[in-house]
Amino acid sequence: MISSEGKTIVVVGATGRQGGQVARHLLSQGWRVVGLTRKPESKKAAALKALGAELIQADLEDIASLEAAFRDAYGLYNMQPPVPGKPEVEIRQGRNAAQAAKQTGVKHIVYGSAGPGGSQTGIEQWDTKLEITRAMKDLGLPLTVLRPMAFMELMSDPSYYPNSSTWYIWPNLMGTERRIPWISVQDLGAIAAKAFADPNQYLGKNLPLAADAQSLAECREIYRQVWGKYPSRFPMPMFLFEKFVGKDVPNMWRWLRTNPVSLDTSTTYEVHPGAMTVQTWMRSLRT
Ligand SMILES: NC(=O)c1ccc[n+]([C@@H]2O[C@H](COP(=O)([O-])OP(=O)(O)OC[C@H]3O[C@@H](n4cnc5c(N)ncnc54)[C@H](OP(=O)(O)O)[C@@H]3O)[C@@H](O)[C@H]2O)c1
Repeated sequence: MISSEGKTIVVVGATGRQGGQVARHLLSQGWRVVGLTRKPESKKAAALKALGAELIQADLEDIASLEAAFRDAYGLYNMQPPVPGKPEVEIRQGRNAAQAAKQTGVKHIVYGSAGPGGSQTGIEQWDTKLEITRAMKDLGLPLTVLRPMAFMELMSDPSYYPNSSTWYIWPNLMGTERRIPWISVQDLGAIAAKAFADPNQYLGKNLPLAADAQSLAECREIYRQVWGKYPSRFPMPMFLFEKFVGKDVPNMWRWLRTNPVSLDTSTTYEVHPGAMTVQTWMRSLRT
């Protein structure tokens, strides 16, 4: 274990779901946290500032802004949001972050990847992450990869349109019975903080993150147990849904219908014994 005292970790996507949780866990463990944002005046940036983070304006498209932000950093939490239909944008931004980390001598990068790992699946936002991981490895960067499959927040976060997506379209695309590996972004944040605190243990590791394996039918039942009613479904034709999310996300859920994925939760519990099951996580939303 290393001391967080006086050390800075830059968090890409600090105003987002996973970066926000990573930043919160790091702050609670005494790291100096610098959050990257394009909009330092936003409400989410202000909320993070109130918790003790510093916010720096930078853009993944602008390497000079990344180098300025990474200059004093010991560590970097790296992630890129996918741009529907434009995988090349995510790859370019990932390469920019990697280049800037190389230039500034960052000592530990924890990368928020996604998907089953291994060979290309044809799912753009999984394949982009293999490419970005390769770019970071080619530069010899000190790396830990976190590889979640599905965030539990898909069942609750309004910006995922759960009533149309998780509870209506995904069951149609992948069926209701196949199990999915789930993790909450809160636990992803806790695991990222553990990785930064213990580089001897986690540098060079590629960790599949799954705290529970439940089918959509099982999740729906858990929802009923917790909330006393089934989640409402808001039917939406696919062409309209694709206007919101693009084609890649529906393709991912079609892929999950026929392709095996690891449902092993042991790695996650070894790193973070307190990780939440779907039921524990859903109950936590009620408190
Ligand atoms: N949904 C799932 O189930 C799931 C599962 C596994 C992995 N993932 C992966 O998780 C990632 C998305 O994470 P998330 O949900 O935490 O994202 P999110 O909540 O959508 O947040 C996106 C973040 O990226 C920042 N950002 C966007 N464009 C930027 C740019 N050009 N320069 C600098 N910052 C920029 C935003 O900051 P500002 O707007 O403040 O600039 C924001 O903080 C994706 O890569 C996805 O593949 C998702």
